[in-house]
Amino acid sequence: MANKESIGIGLMGLGVIGGGVAKVLMSKPEALAREAGSRLVLKKVLEIDRSKHGTLGIERSLFTTEFRDIVEDPGIDIIIELIGGEHPAFEYIRECLQRGKHVVTANKEVMSKHWTELQTAADRYKVSLRYEASVGGGIPLIAPFQEDLVANDIRAIYAILNGTTNYILTRMAKEGIDFAEALRKAQELGYAEADPSKDIDGIDAAYKLAILSTIAFSTEIRPEQVYCEGISRLQARDFRYARELGYAIKLLAIAKRAGQYVEARVHPVFIAEESLLAKVDGVYNAINVEGDLVGNVIFYGQGAGPSATSSAVVSDVIKIAQDINRGTVGRARLPQPGGLKVKPMSEVETRYYMRMNVADRAGVLAQISKVLGDHNISISAVIQKESDPTTQTAEIVIMTHPSKEEAVRAALKETERLAVVKEISNFVRVEA
Ligand code: HSE
Repeated sequence: MANKESIGIGLMGLGVIGGGVAKVLMSKPEALAREAGSRLVLKKVLEIDRSKHGTLGIERSLFTTEFRDIVEDPGIDIIIELIGGEHPAFEYIRECLQRGKHVVTANKEVMSKHWTELQTAADRYKVSLRYEASVGGGIPLIAPFQEDLVANDIRAIYAILNGTTNYILTRMAKEGIDFAEALRKAQELGYAEADPSKDIDGIDAAYKLAILSTIAFSTEIRPEQVYCEGISRLQARDFRYARELGYAIKLLAIAKRAGQYVEARVHPVFIAEESLLAKVDGVYNAINVEGDLVGNVIFYGQGAGPSATSSAVVSDVIKIAQDINRGTVGRARLPQPGGLKVKPMSEVETRYYMRMNVADRAGVLAQISKVLGDHNISISAVIQKESDPTTQTAEIVIMTHPSKEEAVRAALKETERLAVVKEISNFVRVEA
C-alpha cells in the first residue's frame, strides 16, 4: 500500500505547548515527512482566544473557535489535544475517537481520570490514542513501559514527576530558605503558576503516577487512589536535619508491588543523599524503575516546557502517521481483569522522621518512647536539636524503624496529647 501523500493534523489549544508543537510542525516539514512517510499538514487550529488567531506565522484562515470545525473535517486524520484541564478536553477527545480520529494528547488530568474509557473507545473505533507527553514532558516513559520493559514484572517506580516542586525543594535545600520564599522565587521565574496548588499539593504528580502505574502494573489505578501529600509543611530546619542525618528531601511519586497489592503514593521523602534521585536538582524530572529482569533503569530529563513536550507530542504524531501508512492502528492496552489492588495508605510501612517540640526536662523522652512502643513503633535514633532556655523547650528528632502508617498516626495523636509535648512539628517518611 502506498503511503498517503499527506496526513491532516488538527491542533486544539495554542497555548505555550500548542505554540511549541505548531512551531515544530512548521519549522522542519521535510524531516518530519521523512520519518512519517507523509507530509504532516496543519489543517486547523482550535483556539477560543481570538487574539492568538493569525499568530506564530499560522494563516488566519486555519483558525476556528468551534470544536465542530475540527472534529467534522474529513481532511483531518490526527487531532492533537493541548487544551489542558479535564473539561471540555475529555469530551473533545472522546468524540474525536468516536468519529474515527486518531488523538495525541499531553493531558495528564484527562488520561489519569478517564484512562479506561478512552482506551476502550480507541480500541472500539480502531484508532490510536497516544499520550507520551502526559508524564515526564519530553522523557520517553509511556512507550518504554508499554513496549521496551514489557517482559518485566515491574517491582517499583520511584519518581520525581513535578519540576515545580523539585525546583522549590532544591532552593530550600541549597539556600536554607523557607517554603514561602522558595515558592515566590519559582513564581518570579515562571516555574510555578500563579495558582500553584496542583503542583505544591502533589496532585500533578499523582495524576502522572496514576498513568504510569496503570500501565506498569496492568491495573487501573485512579488518581484518587494515589495517596497525596504536598510539600508546604516542610521547613528549612527539616532540610538542615535531613542533611545532618545523610538525607535529601524530595517529593517522590512511589508505586511499589507488594504481592497482590500496589502501593501508590506521592509525598515528601527522606532519601539517602548519595542516591541518584537525591542529586536531581531544579526543574528536572527523573524516574527510577525496578524490573525483575532489567534491574534498575533511570530516565532523566526535562519534564515540562514547550520544546521538550513537543518532542513527545510530535513523535506520537509521527508514530500514528507510520501506523496509518502501514495500515495498522495502535492496539489499546486495557487493564487485565483480576488486576492488583491498591494498598490503603494506613497499611503502608516505611521508616519515619519525626520532629517535635517538647519540654526540656528529665523523663520526657521516656514518656514519648513509651507511647511509640505501645504502638509497636521501634525507635532507631533520637537526637536533641535546639534547646531554648527561656521557654525550657527543646526540639527533638526521632527516627524510627519500619512502622505502619496507621500506628504512626495513632501514636503521634497520643504523643501530641502528652503535657510535655508542645507540638508535633512535622513527620516525613524515609525511603532508603
Ligand atoms: N507543572 C508540571 C511541573 C509540568 O511542574 O512539572 C507539567 O506537567
